[in-house]
Amino acid sequence: MTEDARGLYLDLMKKILTNVIYQDEAIQTFEYEGEPDVDARQLGRDWPSVAHTMVGLKRLDNLQYCVETALADGIPGDLIETGVWRGGSSIFMRAVLRAHGDTTRRVWVADSFQGMPEVAPDAHPVDREMRLHQANGVLAVSLEQVRSNFERYGLLDDQVRFLPGWFKDTLPTAPPGPLAVIRLDGDLYESTMDALENLFPRLAPGGFVIIDDYAIPACSDAVHAYRERLGITDPIHEIDGTGVYWRSTYTHSG
Ligand SMILES: C[S@@+](CC[C@H](N)C(=O)[O-])C[C@H]1O[C@@H](n2cnc3c(N)ncnc32)[C@H](O)[C@@H]1O
Repeated sequence: MTEDARGLYLDLMKKILTNVIYQDEAIQTFEYEGEPDVDARQLGRDWPSVAHTMVGLKRLDNLQYCVETALADGIPGDLIETGVWRGGSSIFMRAVLRAHGDTTRRVWVADSFQGMPEVAPDAHPVDREMRLHQANGVLAVSLEQVRSNFERYGLLDDQVRFLPGWFKDTLPTAPPGPLAVIRLDGDLYESTMDALENLFPRLAPGGFVIIDDYAIPACSDAVHAYRERLGITDPIHEIDGTGVYWRSTYTHSG
C-alpha cells in the first residue's frame, strides 16, 4: 500500500468508526446532558447511538500516532485495549497493522463483554458516585457483536485475540507479552489499576501507555498511584481534554 493510500484508508476508517459521516445522535445519559452534537464526536464527549467507538477522532489520531511510532521505531510486541465496548478503537488498531502490512503483531481485545463491574462498597468514592454499571444497558456489548463488528470491516483474523472476562481474571495470564501499546479504557479506578498492574510490566521500553479516561478523577488517581509506586516520571501528554498518554522509558528488572 502506498503512503497516500494508507493515509486515505486510515482517515476514512476514523470517520466511519466515529460515524461523523452519517452523524448518528448521542444516547442521552447521566454523563451527557447537552443536546446531541456532532462536534462532540471530535472529542469523544458523547455516547453514540450507532458508531462503533465513543473515543472521538482526536483519540483515534493519537492511537494511530502511538501504533505507527511503535512500528517505525521497531518497538517489539503486541497491542491491547482494555475496555472495548463496540470494538471501534481495537478495530482501528487492527486497521493500522493492516495498512502497514504487519502480519506478526496481535491485537488483544479485553472486555467483560457484559459491561462494567458492580462497584464495591469500599471502591473509590468517584466510582461509587458514578455508578457506571447502571449504564450497562448501553455499555454491555457481547463478544459476538464485537466479533461481528470486526468482520464488517474485513479485519477479523487470527491476529485478533479476544480476552473475555473481568480484567482481574483475564490479564494476569494473557497476553504473554511483550507489548508495544497498551490502551486503557475501563473508566474505573479498579479497572485502570488491574490493567496497569498486569500489563505495564510487559510493556517494552519505548512502548506507549494510553489512558482514555484520565479526566475521570478515579482513573487519574489510579494512574498516579501506580506511577508513584514504580517511580515512573515519563511526561504525561494531553490528547483532547479527556485522554492522555506517555511513552515509556521504564526498564523492567528481573
Ligand atoms: C468506555 S467503554 C470503552 C470504549 C471503547 N474503548 C471505544 O472505543 O468506544 C468501557 C468498557 O470497559 C469494560 N470494562 C470496564 N471495566 C472492566 C473490567 N474490570 N473488566 C472487564 N471489562 C471492563 C466495559 O465492559 C466497557 O465495554
